[in-house]
Amino acid sequence: MENLAPRPGDLEPIETASRDELAGLQLERMKWSLNHAYENSPFYRTRFDEAGVHPSDLKTLGDLAKFPFTTKQDLRNTYPFGMFAVPREKLCRIHGSSGTTGKPTVVGYTLKDIDTWATVVARSIRAGGGRPGDMVHVAYGYGLFTGGLGAHYGAEKLGCTVVPISGGMTERQVTLMQDFKPRIIMVTPSYMLSILDEFHRQGIDPRSSSLAIGIFGAEPWTNAMREEIEQAFDMHAVDIYGLSEVIGPGVASECVETKDGLHIWEDHFYPEIIDPVTGEVLPDGELGELVFTTLTKEGLPMIRYRTRDLTRLLPGSARSMRRMEKVTGRSDDMMILRGVNVFPTQIEEQILKCRGLAPHFQIELSRSGRMDTMTVHVECTPAAADDAARAGSAKELAHHIKSVVGVSTRIEVQTPGTVARSEGKAKRVVDNRPKE
Ligand code: DLL
Repeated sequence: MENLAPRPGDLEPIETASRDELAGLQLERMKWSLNHAYENSPFYRTRFDEAGVHPSDLKTLGDLAKFPFTTKQDLRNTYPFGMFAVPREKLCRIHGSSGTTGKPTVVGYTLKDIDTWATVVARSIRAGGGRPGDMVHVAYGYGLFTGGLGAHYGAEKLGCTVVPISGGMTERQVTLMQDFKPRIIMVTPSYMLSILDEFHRQGIDPRSSSLAIGIFGAEPWTNAMREEIEQAFDMHAVDIYGLSEVIGPGVASECVETKDGLHIWEDHFYPEIIDPVTGEVLPDGELGELVFTTLTKEGLPMIRYRTRDLTRLLPGSARSMRRMEKVTGRSDDMMILRGVNVFPTQIEEQILKCRGLAPHFQIELSRSGRMDTMTVHVECTPAAADDAARAGSAKELAHHIKSVVGVSTRIEVQTPGTVARSEGKAKRVVDNRPKE
């Protein structure tokens, strides 16, 4: 694979600024953001007044801990536009959460916010090894979901040629990749696996494709999956993180030269890690819930927004900005089996250790008596599809899960192509337990 480390002059000065310089900028912007929220959003004014805090109480970055959290429920309670800090007429764009049930959570952007967003996505693509002039195949969904348009504006801002194909119609995705020869693909990792299947179905060697870089996010994925995709396509695979409430993709992104976690673009998004039960701020390095405060956003400032994503903060490496470790999962996706906490990413990791299994899987939760049980539906590879090989793979996977994760599971090894495929975010868990 190509060496894609940036050359001097490629980066924005803030990406390599000293920590002191960065902290100075953060404090100045944080004061602005708290004031802006308090002065222009009745929601925040009430919240701060109720908590007995005022933006002028913020003298240091640590003082942020005095301010109340916001949650997805706040966005739901104020649906659709109740938390915004500019009149609706000043918004140039609306997006929504990708939630499949009920009403979406609505977020809004001013023109300046769209520009900020494009800047951080452009920076993320550059961190992944992208350069002006590259062709970028954007297979994240376009629409209310922030993935497609977020990637699109960022790639354009970097000076790339964008192919705005969106998700779905997988056969055509592969045809157009063969014809246009993009260097970069931006897509969810699970949909990349569907695209991989399609390469094989069309009899094309994926390693012969023009792709050199994949920028994957919008759902948790493991380093084992990175290895799988990099080998399959002979390409670099990097992680991009974000959420619509904070801006969309491009809140944090991995650098191709280190692939050691995601640099948070801290000049725009201030991170904290808290204990999800007590709300107490934890020191860098400890695992907890990620919380963000936007520093420059006009339309919808988010103050101490609880993401429910679990990770830890690490010092900067390829850039000055701190890193977040690859997200283990959302607290909502955590399954508890006989007292053991289990995330789908832990199951993914064990599946990828088994040579006879393909990385397509779904976890089913059910109840027998008073016990919750977990069944892992996973596909065998075509080369290991006979009964004996499947039984061997099932035994191997059950053993890995028991010894590493610590839970007993039932394993269903299925025929290739029979586990539901993703065109966007994969649905990893199907909960068939009776509703209480
Ligand atoms: O998924 C934004 C996005 C689009 C990010 C494209 C990256 C690429 P939402 O639909 O609001 O926004 O979902 C946000 O998705 O809180 C995480 O739980 C999860 N998520 C996003 N990126 C990652 C990632 C977009 N790289 C929610 N790793 C977040 C793990 C991720 N989880």
